[in-house]
Amino acid sequence: MKITVIGAGNVGATAAQRIAEKELANEVVLVDIVEGVPQGKGLDMYESAPVEGFDTMVTGTNSYDATAGSDIVVITAGIPRKPGMSRDDLLNTNAGIIKSVTEQVAAKSPNTILIVVSNPLDVMVHVAQKVSGFPRNRVIGMAGVLDTARFRSFIAMELKVSVEDITSLILGGHGDSMVPLARYTSVAGIPLTELMSQDKIDAIVKRAQNGGIEIVNFLKTGSAFYAPSSAAVQMVESIVKDKKRILPCAVMLNGEYGIKDTVVGVPVKLGRSGMEQILEIKLTLEENAALKKSADEVKLNMDKVKF
Ligand code: APR
Repeated sequence: MKITVIGAGNVGATAAQRIAEKELANEVVLVDIVEGVPQGKGLDMYESAPVEGFDTMVTGTNSYDATAGSDIVVITAGIPRKPGMSRDDLLNTNAGIIKSVTEQVAAKSPNTILIVVSNPLDVMVHVAQKVSGFPRNRVIGMAGVLDTARFRSFIAMELKVSVEDITSLILGGHGDSMVPLARYTSVAGIPLTELMSQDKIDAIVKRAQNGGIEIVNFLKTGSAFYAPSSAAVQMVESIVKDKKRILPCAVMLNGEYGIKDTVVGVPVKLGRSGMEQILEIKLTLEENAALKKSADEVKLNMDKVKF
């Protein structure tokens, strides 16, 4: 198993570290355009192997030669948000970066599975799919796992229970219009609605929707990376181990949920061949309208983006 991570910045380097420490691959290749950074971080990471006790080889490079034959490529290259910026402000800059990265990745690893992390996420999945020409099951965006992780953390803080007992589902685009489904959220099987007032649930939903900007406002010089890298690596793990986990991920829809030619977050099954199934669940009229609205917002940017 060979995994490449493109972008040796905050998200990329942390993702590579988590992959290595979990020994999800024999080899991790870290790529960046900045000379020295991937080499330095890769070597530093590998020098932690004797202490941490992992045998994953980690190397860094500025060229794509060493990425050839990767089973999975995690794309984190791009610029992150600064305070006052929305994910959409990154649109054309990151689209250009994703285009160039994807072309080079696809040329060296034509059978790889792409996990896209760069923002604005849903549009970047579309760019990566168009440029690579890969089928949709091999171009998957990381958003829902992060958004649900935030939602679950806030619920755990509020109820003072273990995060492990909380399962949840968030649909839609990775932005303010994401659709957290309180009805499909439970604590050890108990519906959230039994444990929390609607007002409290609404407040937590709002905080999850603004979870990214909350961190940006603290950091000021970058955006979140611990939780985003964890989320991406959970997707990697489900694919590597063929676990067939059901995780909310951004994929191109072909009529599912009544949505066509648009990338949005929906529950999917992740296994060795990538996205193996889209699960279509029953939504209320209200939830359905919120999902449509979110998809329309993504579609607008998909039509607008230049690459
Ligand atoms: N090829 C390879 N790497 C590139 C390229 C490129 N064409 N362009 C930029 N990079 C690298 C940068 O040099 C930098 O090291 O991508 C890295 C991005 O790292 P950070 O600036 O630390 O950003 P990070 O917090 O990791 O976020 C990356 O993920 O969560 C999203 O919104 C976030 O789009 C952003 C991406």
